[in-house]
Amino acid sequence: MCGIVGYVGSGDTLLVLLEALEKLEYRGYDSSGVALIEDGKLFIEKKPGKIRELIKSLWGKKTSAKAGIGHTRWATHGQVCELNAHPHSDSKGEFAVVHNGIIENYRHLKEQLLAKGIEYRSQTDSEAIAHLIALNYKGDLLEATHKVTKMLEGAFAFAVLSTHEPERIVAFRRSSPLVVGLGEGENFLASDIPALLPFTRRVVPLSEGELVDLRPDGVSIYAEDLSPITREVMYVQWDVISAEKGGFKHFMLKEINEQPRVVSETIRGLISRESELPNLADFRRVIFVACGTSLHSAMIAKHWLSRFQKIPSEVYHASELRYSDEPISSQDLVIAISQSGETADTRFAALSAKERGATLLSIVNVVGSALDRESDFSLYTHAGPEIGVAATKTFIAQLSALYYLSTYNDQKLRQKLSLIPALIEEVLTLSERIKALSPELSSTKSALYIGRYLNYPIALEGALKLKEISYIHAEGLPAGEMKHGPIALIDEKTPVFAIAVQDRVYEKMLSNAEEVLARRGKLISVGFKGDEKLQSLSKYAIEIPKTDEYLTPFITIIPLQLLAYFIADHLGLDVDQPRNLAKTVTVE
Ligand code: AGP
Repeated sequence: MCGIVGYVGSGDTLLVLLEALEKLEYRGYDSSGVALIEDGKLFIEKKPGKIRELIKSLWGKKTSAKAGIGHTRWATHGQVCELNAHPHSDSKGEFAVVHNGIIENYRHLKEQLLAKGIEYRSQTDSEAIAHLIALNYKGDLLEATHKVTKMLEGAFAFAVLSTHEPERIVAFRRSSPLVVGLGEGENFLASDIPALLPFTRRVVPLSEGELVDLRPDGVSIYAEDLSPITREVMYVQWDVISAEKGGFKHFMLKEINEQPRVVSETIRGLISRESELPNLADFRRVIFVACGTSLHSAMIAKHWLSRFQKIPSEVYHASELRYSDEPISSQDLVIAISQSGETADTRFAALSAKERGATLLSIVNVVGSALDRESDFSLYTHAGPEIGVAATKTFIAQLSALYYLSTYNDQKLRQKLSLIPALIEEVLTLSERIKALSPELSSTKSALYIGRYLNYPIALEGALKLKEISYIHAEGLPAGEMKHGPIALIDEKTPVFAIAVQDRVYEKMLSNAEEVLARRGKLISVGFKGDEKLQSLSKYAIEIPKTDEYLTPFITIIPLQLLAYFIADHLGLDVDQPRNLAKTVTVE
């Protein structure tokens, strides 16, 4: 999973590429590179490390190039080093390629290339594309690229540049995102919309199997059989500033603080699409598919659907559904939840369910993303671009959409959503108190998060936030399961975060808190304001405002997001771009 950018025009090609690459760094950041056509020759610069390393090495460079491509990498084939960084070129240095995704048959292709005496320099699958285009080039880059796409198997997107046609880029997408940006006398290409926003708001997301031919004076899109396609231009309303840090130290902290607004905006957006939604009562059951944080919102929605609609539902890790024998039919509604709408596991699971006859409803944050376009119905979460790798505001936005959907025939219940922004605001005022806990907690080696019912998924989400940004081992558990094994982990050094609001499982949670104390565990509770019973059991008690049991996940998660953030920041870690992770995982 990587980020691709491209530019054709008479602007400062290098500056455009570097600025766009910086916006894509969340997709992967182990190495980066650019390729330009200068005076008929290919210039390539690539560096391992973050994009600032590439910027440093190109500092002061002037170029007259009218076309260039760039790449930020998250390694899938081959270790992190300059040789494996993109762009890759053919043996004569006439073609350069940047690629995102996986070429599944690359070993076979590589053997064929080696048999032809071609020197294969990197350990990547991507290099094969450059050699294949060089071998198939007969004077037209579009034609050569089209021919090569027929030889490649897998899910990928790539862009090609050639010394033979110095003002042209050709690109192709199959299951990996690619968006064209339209300018005046210049045109752009990127893996997602935010990377294009500094330059243009007129965009065209490419669809499955489409090729694009970019020149300074125009863009042509072709279907897989090379027939020309006319596409509607989308005008992006997002504010560029909203993609910047807005005064906060990290994007994650900014995004946590944006949550009250995100709930309101998501609700507003949902109201405007009400009539376009499927009727839940038409289906026998709902199957949720999602990964990571999005999966946790699905787990909460399952309870809402059972309670408010009496509709049975299953929640599947997306990566587990595609290869399962789950009987799925036209009586099933599959709800695929994904911030990016590009997560390969989620998309492929959803598509396989669709093939088995299900209706597909997606809940996505990125309008025009692959999942959005592949679905029968879409709901948008209106959280704006989320830059921090750890999902926060998009989780709250997903909960808003799911609650809205689950209460479609009960206006009274639905209106309760309007209470959420103020409740979140109130919890955010606890930031300083939560920050004060971070020095002590940051020396922790391992932590447990426990909850029940609607707050069990919150325990999972709290643990996920801590582990992904602070690298502290954390486990989320249904509190009732502790006695079946995990309780053996508890000692005086183990913090146990207990979410114990006064809901139907409150008394049970108090018993679990007692069990922790009996093993000398350090209990940190998240409970309602004024709950003296809980406070008496807690080493630290985080008090949140009282609300209806069904709404509690919206606010119990906030202190856990803040705690994870402050612990990681206290440890001096790269909160927005934690190691080994990428914001969008477009490989299976
Ligand atoms: C959450 O903090 C993660 N970084 C990750 O688990 C994420 O939620 C998951 O990869 C799914 O992404 P999606 O919502 O874009 O599909």
